[in-house]
This record gives sequence, structure tokens and C-alpha cells, in this order.
Amino acid sequence: MALITWNDKLSVQIRQCDDEHKRLIEMVNQLHDAMKEGKGKQVIGDVLNGLISYTKNHFAAEEQLLKSHGYPDYEKHKKEHNQLTLTVLDLQKGYEAGSAPLSQSVMNFLKDWLTNHIQGVDKVYGPYLNGKGVK
Ligand code: FEO
Repeated sequence: MALITWNDKLSVQIRQCDDEHKRLIEMVNQLHDAMKEGKGKQVIGDVLNGLISYTKNHFAAEEQLLKSHGYPDYEKHKKEHNQLTLTVLDLQKGYEAGSAPLSQSVMNFLKDWLTNHIQGVDKVYGPYLNGKGVK
């Protein structure tokens, strides 16, 4: 069973962001599956790298969108992205060094962070951007 299932409550009403969030969820689910199936370090490491890289690209694209439309909470939003990025890079470092294996609690953290972020601060920019003509 998937760790996270997309549903309409996760929609921020901006197509590009919804598409990227769906892909992020898919990648978190792939990482969860790889962990549960006991895949090797190389495979899990590759999935983790892919997730981190996609997350960074998504954050950058979202920040660019917010900035270009003068979003008032841009700095606060970027700060949340930066914090998660640092946390995940730390996780990756620990994983690569063999000191922090991927666990269910790490997966739950990623799940909670992602769904809370999307349903919280991401969702707030939807009406603002819609008002600027972004759909
Ligand atoms: Fe969609 Fe703010 O990340």
C-alpha cells in the first residue's frame, strides 16, 4: 500500500505545482517501497538522490513562481524549503555513511512534512496566484 495517496485536498489549484507535488508523492512512495522490500544500499541511495534532486528543483520552480508574482510570504515560504532541504541532506549524509539507515520513522517524517507543507503554506498561495492569472 502506498505511503501517501494523492487526493483533492492536496490540490493547490495551480496545475504546474499539482503535477510536481504528485511526482514528489510518487517518489516518496517509491522510496518507501524500496525500504520495505529491503532493497540494497545502492538502489535506495539512488532513489533517495532522485527524490532530493526533484525536491530541490520543485522548490526552486515554486520559489521562482512566487517571487515573480510578488508573493508577500515568499521569504517565509523559502525558509521552510531551506529547512527541509538541510534536514534531508543530513539524512542522506547519514545514510551514505551507514550511520542512519532509512526507517519507517524517517518515511513518516517525510510523509508528514510533505502533506503538511502542501496542505498548509503551499495551499495558501493558490488563490493569490489564481488572482494573478496563474492556473
Ligand atoms: Fe510545493 Fe512549497 O513546496
